[in-house]
Amino acid sequence: MPNIAVIGAQWGDEGKGKIVDLLSERFDVVARFQGGPNAGHTVTFGGQSYALHHVPSGVFRPNVRIVIGNGTVLDLGKMLDEFDGLVRAGIELDGRLFVSDRAHVVLPVMVRLDALRESAADAATRIGTTLRGIGPTYEAKAARWGVRIGDLAELDYLTDRVRRIVDGPAGQRLREAGERLDADAIAREAWERGRRLAPYVADTALLLNDWIDEGLDVLFEGAQGTLLDLDHGSYPFVTSSSTIAGALCGGLGVAPTRLDGALGVFKAYGTRVGGGPMPTELKDADGERIRERGREYGTTTGRPRRCGWFDGVAAAYANRLNRFDNVCISLLDVLDEFDQVKLCVGYRDDGREVRSFPASPAAAARVEPVWETLPGWSTDTTGVRRWDELPSNARRFLDRLGEVIGSPVGMVGVGPDRAQSIIRPGSWMAGLLG
Ligand code: GDP
Ligand code: IMO
Ligand code: MG
Repeated sequence: MPNIAVIGAQWGDEGKGKIVDLLSERFDVVARFQGGPNAGHTVTFGGQSYALHHVPSGVFRPNVRIVIGNGTVLDLGKMLDEFDGLVRAGIELDGRLFVSDRAHVVLPVMVRLDALRESAADAATRIGTTLRGIGPTYEAKAARWGVRIGDLAELDYLTDRVRRIVDGPAGQRLREAGERLDADAIAREAWERGRRLAPYVADTALLLNDWIDEGLDVLFEGAQGTLLDLDHGSYPFVTSSSTIAGALCGGLGVAPTRLDGALGVFKAYGTRVGGGPMPTELKDADGERIRERGREYGTTTGRPRRCGWFDGVAAAYANRLNRFDNVCISLLDVLDEFDQVKLCVGYRDDGREVRSFPASPAAAARVEPVWETLPGWSTDTTGVRRWDELPSNARRFLDRLGEVIGSPVGMVGVGPDRAQSIIRPGSWMAGLLG
């Protein structure tokens, strides 16, 4: 089994957690390379659902090693709570979970800064972040005054680092808003949490490269989605990390030559949480129906997700950036009761064809979708387990999605449970799983 990336190909929440949980049975290691507590990945099996934020979704497979890489940003309190919750659920973490000493810490001041900015913004400019301090933490990293997991070991050095933040522009902004900041107290709290975390901290790039040399197989788990990528997403309505497959090299210290393939995860329709353009958004009964059938409310924040038909232009764009070997279409069952299903196969701006996802938010908000309508299948697919048992209209829809995306559909999701998954015979996915 080679080393494979599982990447969100829309605006997040494509069902990555479910797929990673399912596939990780066949891998030795699952590694996260970016994002942090903004992620909410749901894993469902045996009648139980688990929401993961920091911990990769391979954690439920006892023989799988789990890596939280250097490209991530970690909220120590929330992450330790997440570890405790997993241990209470009977999941062993000791000796198999590894946190990079180079990952960055989301300090409480970063969370407050995120909230302050969002509350100060108006409706048009508000990003609609998850309020988890993600942007301010990645900014601190790029500005070179961030605090890393490895810095938690030494209280004096850590306090110096925290003081730079408290005395710098971030602290100043918070003081102006009436906050009182105590660098010593912030540093001590982080240091104490660091002591609890210490048994898990490692040079994860060294470990991963050793393991790959030994022949172990790694599944790279993306967070967020391609249209939320800092460079290629619908900037500025994006997250603050790079979410595409190429980012895993920097985010884990693994060379591009180590990556053998990528699976793109798409929903059979589109969703987005927060602000920014979404060309296929539906503000009508169809959108409401998708939201209710798909239970489209955020895993991290509980916010209702914006819903729309499948956006083929954004999907082809995502495939160009990631070059998927195969794609998985999840939540197909959500469309089971529609008489007709639609997909967007082009954009027009003032009558002119637009070939790709526009860079400017104004242009992306302006484009009009060119729709294609296909017959629905009006059949409950949640019990289907084989490709050839899918209704023919559903297969027709899936084939058309593959054409529009530019990468064949190798896998389909027909329900939240691990078992509600279909692998297409003869596909790259089928070959991968043997
Ligand atoms: P992630 O962030 O990409 O891991 O996705 P989330 O877990 O945030 O959101 C996906 C939601 O859809 C979760 O509630 C999953 O349990 C659910 N889900 C995943 N795949 C399917 C599917 O094929 N059908 C249905 N009905 N639900 C699914
Ligand atoms: P998973 O991994 C969906 C969105 C937020 C907001 C923007 C910036 O579960 O797919 P941030 O808090 O990152 O600064 O917010 O990105 N966002 C997500 N949307 N799924 C996610 O993660 C997301 N993580 C961030 O809603 O629009
Ligand atoms: Mg999610």
